[in-house]
Amino acid sequence: MDRLRNKIRDIPDFPKPGIVFKDITPLVKDPATLRLAVHQLLHPFLGRDITAVAGMEARGFIFGSLVAWELGIPFVPLRKPGKLPYDVQSVSYDLEYGSAELEVHIDAVDSKDKVLLIDDLLATGGTAKASCELIEKLGASVVACAFVVELDFLNGRGNLQGYEIHSLLHY
Ligand code: PRP
Ligand code: ADE
Repeated sequence: MDRLRNKIRDIPDFPKPGIVFKDITPLVKDPATLRLAVHQLLHPFLGRDITAVAGMEARGFIFGSLVAWELGIPFVPLRKPGKLPYDVQSVSYDLEYGSAELEVHIDAVDSKDKVLLIDDLLATGGTAKASCELIEKLGASVVACAFVVELDFLNGRGNLQGYEIHSLLHY
């Protein structure tokens, strides 16, 4: 895991004073490390009954679509408001540095789907909780949530009680 950790850069006071931003761009710039991260993310789910991977805009798209591609199952984009062209289901939530909203197409998944949620980072858990709600509003179930980075001191897991959570790196 040091190979992954060494490719995540701390940017102090971004996007607001007091926030130490975990920058994953050095990791995605290095193909071997990106491949390692994707394989580590999907490893716990090999052989399990998962029918789709959902990823949160924007950084969740990078890891989520690669995991979906490796598993050979559909990728579902959970997008910031006003970006999806068809009918949407939406949910609002709070972030470590503000508030936000996510949307999904109403036909993205249905009651037969078992969804793996993927994002780059778990902070307060607001985004992940909202994403679970969105998937469940469409009648699908959430099998687990997996992240590259978890900021333990923000206790995002506490916000996600009842869900299976996996993180590759803890800070
Ligand atoms: C970041 C990150 C997660 C979320 C985690 O996304 O990629 O999605 O914050 O924070 P939380 O656990 O407190 O909800 P951001 O909303 O900054 O969007 P981006 O991926 O477009 O940069
Ligand atoms: N999303 C929420 N908090 C974050 C942080 N500290 N670094 C990167 N992305 C984040």
